[in-house]
Amino acid sequence: MGAGLRRKLIVGNWKMNGSRQTVRELLGVIGARSKALGCEVAICPPFVYLDLCDVVLSATGIKLGAQDLSEHANGARTGDVSAAMLTDFRCRYVLLGHSERRASHGECDEAVARKALQAITAGLSPIVCVGETWEERQSDSTHDVLSRQIRVVADVLARSGQLMALTVAYEPVWAIGSGVTATADVAQDAHAFIRRCLAGYSASIAQSVRILYGGSMKPENAAALLAMPDIDGGLIGGASLNAQQFLSIADVATALEAVQ
Ligand code: 13P
Repeated sequence: MGAGLRRKLIVGNWKMNGSRQTVRELLGVIGARSKALGCEVAICPPFVYLDLCDVVLSATGIKLGAQDLSEHANGARTGDVSAAMLTDFRCRYVLLGHSERRASHGECDEAVARKALQAITAGLSPIVCVGETWEERQSDSTHDVLSRQIRVVADVLARSGQLMALTVAYEPVWAIGSGVTATADVAQDAHAFIRRCLAGYSASIAQSVRILYGGSMKPENAAALLAMPDIDGGLIGGASLNAQQFLSIADVATALEAVQ
């Protein structure tokens, strides 16, 4: 399977932004254009807006995702949200191991792996975020960091025969929210390396797993990034809060789908 058989996926990560009013406004514009999009599109709002998003998006082809889940199934876990609760709101995707959660909630690779298994068991597709800090890149340890982050999750999923359910997001920490994007060549190198790590488990699964790029992706740089052979979509932060910018990126992915 080549890049042409991995359908491009554009995901909006709203992080901790929005209100009921802005959710309605944003999704009103995005939803109205959804039928014209030839790529797959998903939105990951804060938990509290999942219900509203589910209602507004139900008549569109846009999918719903969450930004995290509990590694536990249920019980006395104040503040946590389970995988089953997310499927109850028709979530299809869940972001896991975002660098903001790794940094501010102490999420380790092992916890991310346990969450990925919880997600898959409930029928959700986990989008596992990996990426190096600027210091790690400067000290030439990008590949070491990526291979460790991928290995811990892939070991667990491969043991359960679930590796094919994985989506990866390569998000260099230094490019997130900074306005500094990895060049298309730098991102492609990391994506190809991640795919080689996955090929150590299964060559055919490595070819089918989608690897998204995240980190200051904007309409201006999306074409160069999304045209790379191992970049199968985008995980968009800031630009996903602007309907026109988000749709422009989805239009770029749609155009690339048409030529592949
Ligand atoms: P920005 O697009 O704002 O850099 O955020 C990227 C990100 O963290 C998506 O998960």
